[in-house]
Amino acid sequence: MRVKIAPSVLSADFSKLEDEIKAVEEGGADLIHWDVMDGHFVPNITFGPLVVEALRDKSRLPFNVHLMIENPEKYLKRFVEAGGDIVTVHVEACKHLEHTISTIRKLGAEVGIALNPETPLRTVEPMLDKIDMLLIMTVHPGFGGQTFLKSMVPKIKRARRKIDDKGGSIDLAVDGGISEETAPLAVRAGANVLVAGNAIYGGKNRKLAIEKLRRSASTWSNSG
Ligand code: DX5
Ligand code: ZN
Repeated sequence: MRVKIAPSVLSADFSKLEDEIKAVEEGGADLIHWDVMDGHFVPNITFGPLVVEALRDKSRLPFNVHLMIENPEKYLKRFVEAGGDIVTVHVEACKHLEHTISTIRKLGAEVGIALNPETPLRTVEPMLDKIDMLLIMTVHPGFGGQTFLKSMVPKIKRARRKIDDKGGSIDLAVDGGISEETAPLAVRAGANVLVAGNAIYGGKNRKLAIEKLRRSASTWSNSG
């Protein structure tokens, strides 16, 4: 399965977001990951739909908005209008998950569901055939540059098994602490979308960072 690379804008230079987004598109990224934080669901605050909207016409890549916010239902329409192609909500933040899923769909966007590290997979299992992407947090959400939680590997494996059992073709994304070292662990466990902030925007060369990540993700099959 081809691995998709999703650079997280959270670690980009906010003073030149247009350049940062273009650099990863030219560098071979598959989608742009926007970490929206409200200071309630997570302790940090980032940006809202206005920023996403301002950058929408600067890239042809799909925009994945990762809503780390309370009451995401309230803002779904706004984020789709702003240009979100895949809207990812946290299961912990949704009171009526099925309703939220169908609302995103009705708005015309693809549906992503994210799980915090401590949230069990069973909370979303019945929804796997209703969504387009399952995102497993491999750090506690809120900040970029944290260490990948290796304890999440069995959860990624179980998620891959459940997705395959259902015969689905949804994306399985991992988010947090993804690097050349940890990408192979996640891909070997069954992830096919790698969200990466620090690994891509932490250095100088975005294209090289994406290539290195892609190469590392493909080495596991050779090295066992
Ligand atoms: C964490 C965010 C991640 C984060 C990833 O709350 O959801 O998308 O930015 O950043 P790195 O790759 O630096 O861990
Ligand atoms: Zn994220």
